[in-house]
Amino acid sequence: MKRIPLIAANWKMHKTTAEAKAFITLLAEKTASSQRRIYIAPSFPAIEGAVNAVQDAEMTSKILIGAQNMSDHAEGPFTGEVSATMLKHSGARFVILGHSERRQYFAETNACIQRKVQKALYTGLIPLLCIGESKHERESGHYESVLSLQLEECLKDVNAQQMAQLLIAYEPIWAIGTGENATPKIAQQTHRFIRDWIEKKFGHACSEEVYLLYGGSVKSDNISSLMQQTDIDGVLVGGASLDVNTFSAIVNY
Ligand code: PGA
Repeated sequence: MKRIPLIAANWKMHKTTAEAKAFITLLAEKTASSQRRIYIAPSFPAIEGAVNAVQDAEMTSKILIGAQNMSDHAEGPFTGEVSATMLKHSGARFVILGHSERRQYFAETNACIQRKVQKALYTGLIPLLCIGESKHERESGHYESVLSLQLEECLKDVNAQQMAQLLIAYEPIWAIGTGENATPKIAQQTHRFIRDWIEKKFGHACSEEVYLLYGGSVKSDNISSLMQQTDIDGVLVGGASLDVNTFSAIVNY
């Protein structure tokens, strides 16, 4: 099965609503002839403006707006939190869950991420689940068991039908924001490992449908070699997604 390349942007804590809108208007022009799928995750306050900008540019079938995180609770006294339902009503279509910065700085565990995956699915948001190992786990050869555990625990109670809708981003922690991206060979081998894991658990058809994105220092000069790999269906871009010219070049690789 052919999976259409999917280029996702994680803007992290960057861009006001006005900046997000201006970016999307330009991106729509620069990628007008591209067939690729584009996902953009602005900060919470900029989501609605970004959704409107996509509608104004008549790109709703190609550019999807989503969030970078959400609460694992449905609603209640959780000051500062944002629920899946609120995101859905803002026009978000997907949500990044389990990013390593959330795990590292906000103490998110696999159990917490699993509850978020369930809430997202229940609410009709596409979960974009991030997994990845540290440098030490890679070098000591334990990365496969680390990734298996993250998949096992975060995807608990997900069925094959739901799994086929999910996106998985493999983001080795040592490659995020460091400029040291995984070589296409390492990324491919690890993506193959993840697809095999999915096949064993959810069956062959599901493993062929599910999108596996690579993330970690993706740039316009390494995108082609990454996307040539059989099991890399797309990328999740942080730093290089902030400039519209750079990001358009990645989309149009
Ligand atoms: P980077 O970030 O592209 O800046 O390495 C990727 C990510 O954190 O998703």
